[in-house]
Amino acid sequence: MKKSDFGVVIMAAGKGTRLKSKRPKVLHEIGGQALLLHVIAAAKTIVPAQKVYCVIGHEADRVKSAVEHTGVGFVLQAEQRGTGHALQIVKAWFAVNGGDVPENLMVLSGDVPLIRTETLKQLVEIHSQEKAAMTILTAIPENALGYGRVLRAKEGSIEVKAIIEQKDLAPEQLHVREINSGIYCFATKALFAQLDSLSDKNANKEFYLTDAASLLVAGGERVVAVAAESADEVLGANTIAEMMHLDAAVRAATARRLMADGVTIFRPETCVIDTQVEVGVDTVIEPYVQLLGATKIGEDCRVRSYSVVQNSAIANGVLVRNSCVLDEAKVGVGAMIGPYAHLRPGSEIGEGAHVGNFVETKKTRMGRGSKANHLSYLGDAEIGAGVNIGAGAITCNYDGMHKHTTKIGDGVFVGSDATLVAPLTIGEGAYIAAGSCITEDVPDGALALGRSRQTTKPGWVKKRGDRA
Ligand code: UD1
Ligand code: CA
Repeated sequence: MKKSDFGVVIMAAGKGTRLKSKRPKVLHEIGGQALLLHVIAAAKTIVPAQKVYCVIGHEADRVKSAVEHTGVGFVLQAEQRGTGHALQIVKAWFAVNGGDVPENLMVLSGDVPLIRTETLKQLVEIHSQEKAAMTILTAIPENALGYGRVLRAKEGSIEVKAIIEQKDLAPEQLHVREINSGIYCFATKALFAQLDSLSDKNANKEFYLTDAASLLVAGGERVVAVAAESADEVLGANTIAEMMHLDAAVRAATARRLMADGVTIFRPETCVIDTQVEVGVDTVIEPYVQLLGATKIGEDCRVRSYSVVQNSAIANGVLVRNSCVLDEAKVGVGAMIGPYAHLRPGSEIGEGAHVGNFVETKKTRMGRGSKANHLSYLGDAEIGAGVNIGAGAITCNYDGMHKHTTKIGDGVFVGSDATLVAPLTIGEGAYIAAGSCITEDVPDGALALGRSRQTTKPGWVKKRGDRA
């Protein structure tokens, strides 16, 4: 069967009442990414984005804007009256929007995010081999509670006679352990022919897509089921606890992927690593590190414990010592950061540069080999190469109304506790005396002092004692 014969429908209109959350269920995140984005990524391995149709409804605008960038299409199910109703809406949408109705529809659930592309491909294959009207992906999890159960035509048969929802199970059906994953392939025509016959006379008063199984069988169509290799990939997320279980599974898989590519992760179960994160070979990640968002880390780096790195790019051979926070920062080859450094958005730390203890940078470029080793605030600064920023030196970038830039040329030496009041330019190779408050530009090669002279009174202590 050609791929062009398929479209993929993702059901994502539900509220997720069991989560008790204000956020729509499909926008809850696992592995740092919304559930729906995981499912869309899986769908796009089967068909191109234009053939993926997301059924949205509850907070439709919010869901749409969160996933629009993937290029998928949207079908609005304004009132959510069940998974069967969702497909009724899709049918009506195709009738209005015309165009090519795909010969087959794969249906995915927006809240079943761990599904692997291999499994979906296998489902497509069996669906076409069996010439089925409906092919159901099933599993046998440890705990079947809450899932719909799949009743085979006979024991060991590939054929199915019905799917019964948990709440509608008869006492003698409670022992059935094979569950419906909520993932199916349908022959579109056969499915659409039955949709009007769905009824909402059930425990939830909803139109169940699962009832299509028995309706199709009654109509003489072939309904088959195939079990996923592992139940883990079809686990649903109906409660926060289930969501966190899936989150742990996604993160464990990410850590395994990185380790398989030559990254050392000590105690990976203590690390929080988002799905998109990339790390180069021979980099070492210590326990309790968080690598978030689109973070990229090069080769031969070390990220020490308790550091949190988000949406940042770290080049090769970088050392991030303990307890650093990096957010939208770039760090050059061989740089050393921390411990306890805070690189805020727009920080660009040059090759071989050092940013030490309790140093905060924001929108600041630091050139090659420059150092700010202790207790500094560097905001809105352009710092050249080979610059030394002494302990406690700060840029005063904000006058209460506006932000201003501090430019520091190559080879400048800024003494300890200097206060650099922006806007300010310090020329190449200049020296700023320790303890200075600098308010005027300093030319190349100059020494600038901005402090009162010291007075020393010899013998003052003894004289005071004598007076007393
Ligand atoms: C569903 C299946 C159940 C299966 C389970 C697997 C039905 C009736 N039951 O149950 O057999 O074991 O998934 O996880 O299908 N949705 C809509 N519109 C609606 C209702 C739901 O788009 O009107 C979406 C939801 O957002 C969700 C998906 O469909 O992403 C499944 O709905 P949900 O209510 O979670 O179904 P389950 O009770 O989990
Ligand atoms: Ca569900």
